[in-house]
Amino acid sequence: MGTRRPLLLLSLLLAGSCFQQDSNRTSQILPGDYQASYLQVRGCRLVIGHNSNYLDVRVNNAEAQQAYLAANGPLPQGSVVVAEESDAADCTGLTGYTLMFKDVPGYNAAAGDWRWQRLDDQRNVLEDGRVQSCISCHTQCNLNDYTCSPP
Ligand code: HEC
Repeated sequence: MGTRRPLLLLSLLLAGSCFQQDSNRTSQILPGDYQASYLQVRGCRLVIGHNSNYLDVRVNNAEAQQAYLAANGPLPQGSVVVAEESDAADCTGLTGYTLMFKDVPGYNAAAGDWRWQRLDDQRNVLEDGRVQSCISCHTQCNLNDYTCSPP
């Protein structure tokens, strides 16, 4: 019986960490059925910064869509901007996602309070948080509130 205890402990630890956004967990920012409600703001196009993938950009609601398209100020808190990444020129070869989530004021005031995620094609989190590589490039291309996709 004594040998089972470490296993029990391990499973308790794993259960306790269910809601953390560690690597290889499903994103809790991007819902599985997001396509039903998300709105497209950019059609499929080739992007050099993202491993030369093709991107298709969507946002989570009408307020975010309006702010993204107007491009004259910050997006509202709670906004999600997601890029569907594809290796096919018509964006049908999904390889994963990159997204920006507008977190609470103070989350990262130095860079627009965005939380960044890179996901695989099953929406498992590969990178999460104040991801420096995302921030440094988006700070350079910054068209509006750290977004980089031109009209
Ligand atoms: C080397 C530069 C570079 C890096 C690194 C980079 N991006 Fe981007 N990203 C871009 C450019 C350029 C675009 C716009 C491309 C276009 O539409 O032509 C873009 C577009 C996006 C978009 C679509 C919305 C928009 O208008 O910006 C999202 C979401 C995004 N990136 C997330 C991320 C995340 C998350 C990371 C880090 C895991 C990341 N990016 C790393 C350059 C970069």
